[in-house]
Amino acid sequence: MIDYLCIIKKYYTEGSDAYNLLVKHSIQVADLCMTLAEHTSVEIDRNFTYEAAMLHDIGMFLTDAPSIFCFGDKPYICHGVLGRELMDSLGYPRHALVCERHTGTGLACDEIIAQNLPLPHRDMLPVSNEEKLVCYADNFFSKSKIADAKSPDEVRNQLRKYGEGTMSRFEALYKMFPFK
Ligand SMILES: [Fe+2]
Repeated sequence: MIDYLCIIKKYYTEGSDAYNLLVKHSIQVADLCMTLAEHTSVEIDRNFTYEAAMLHDIGMFLTDAPSIFCFGDKPYICHGVLGRELMDSLGYPRHALVCERHTGTGLACDEIIAQNLPLPHRDMLPVSNEEKLVCYADNFFSKSKIADAKSPDEVRNQLRKYGEGTMSRFEALYKMFPFK
């Protein structure tokens, strides 16, 4: 087990607005992951998933997103890849991949190129079951407004603007991790 709160406190001042928001949001995602893990037939490493869910947004402080108390200079869309770099530097490559691959329903290299996103040109799609679960669960919560989980239809409506690839990946994840 890794001490995820200790890692978060390295980069976020305990009790600050950014810390409180990150921890609240991450607990919501981690808890939903645990609920979904109970009802799926796919194999899930639950301890790892909980840790990775708690750390998936660790890179957000490096981005320029004042509405969520982040005052860095990188575009917000980079928070996953920034989190990956950070977790890699700490020696946690498996957690790092969850960070990189959680944005939306993941990003394919051709989508990054076509949308001219400020990201490295490689696939950032969730591959392992644990990467898929964290990516999926994250869509049900917003960071800008801590609230109860959205419904699957609310998530669909919010993802539609990102195109066909995003939508079909969402439907595949929806089948993989049913709500019961
Ligand atoms: Fe998140």
